[in-house]
Amino acid sequence: MSRFPWPVPYGWFAVAWSAHVSRGGVVPYRAFGRDLVLWRDERGDAHVHDAYCPHLGAHLGHGGTVSDCELVCPFHGWQFDDSGRNTCIPYSERANGKARLRRYPVLERNGLVMAWYHPNDEPPMWDIPAVPEFGEAADWATPVCRYFTIDTAWQEMAENGVDAAHFRYVHGTAEVPILEEYTPDGFRSHMRSKQFFVTPRGNVEGRIDSDAWGPGFSVVRFSGIVDTMLLGCATPIDEDHCEMRFTFTVRRFADDRATTSVGEAAINEISRQLLEDKPIWEHKVFVDRPALADTDGPFLQFRQWAAQFYVDAT
Ligand code: FES
Ligand SMILES: [Fe+2]
Repeated sequence: MSRFPWPVPYGWFAVAWSAHVSRGGVVPYRAFGRDLVLWRDERGDAHVHDAYCPHLGAHLGHGGTVSDCELVCPFHGWQFDDSGRNTCIPYSERANGKARLRRYPVLERNGLVMAWYHPNDEPPMWDIPAVPEFGEAADWATPVCRYFTIDTAWQEMAENGVDAAHFRYVHGTAEVPILEEYTPDGFRSHMRSKQFFVTPRGNVEGRIDSDAWGPGFSVVRFSGIVDTMLLGCATPIDEDHCEMRFTFTVRRFADDRATTSVGEAAINEISRQLLEDKPIWEHKVFVDRPALADTDGPFLQFRQWAAQFYVDAT
């Protein structure tokens, strides 16, 4: 039984950092409440399929291999192409037209392999942008990756963004962010906030602005002390467990050593905040009708936005 009332949401979700899936590599993976296989063909394209071979059920992620651009089952050598179709049975003249592996659409952008999940296999309904700061932009440092798993549902983590008050109690910040704007916008949403940081040089005004493309991809810009960009990618392992992939970059200083040390401090601070939230998320319950303060953030608007990503499997 899930602790939460929601199924796995649909959308684009990060399943790996590109650099972690080598050409010809095959790895087992679990997400969306399903056992999956993630592989990269000899051309360099990444693929995600359901893990179990339709022949006799071997897990293709454990011992499967890549032959050219096809995935080969370790049990009896059947081959599957990138659409999941069986193309060859090595001990038969004919392939089996009915043997199909479910395929998940994949895109690779911003150093991430992302898969589209929809419980009813609907095709992708939006795209994921290339974020220039994570590409060729010369004034941004080499990205840094951090990975976490959290025993909670996606929505519980995502709600953190509109919860200004918890910053003081969970994260010990002297000042809480002031939410200037929260705008649900179809499958996207935009948040603009400012926050005062207490520094030895006095209070510095900073900003935290974030834009989401569905449940699995958010771009967050921190400015004020150090310009930092974060790709926050939550991926549901199942209804009540999530992965979180953080990819950071900071704007370069003239001096490389300063870039590294200041960047690390900023990245550690943001990562520490996630670890502070983790025990709250892992033990709380969902309150459907919360008793809110008049100064609490736009929880109900957020929840309405989140609700669009849930559909029952038919
Ligand atoms: S179980 Fe995969 S080829 Fe037999
Ligand atoms: Fe938090």
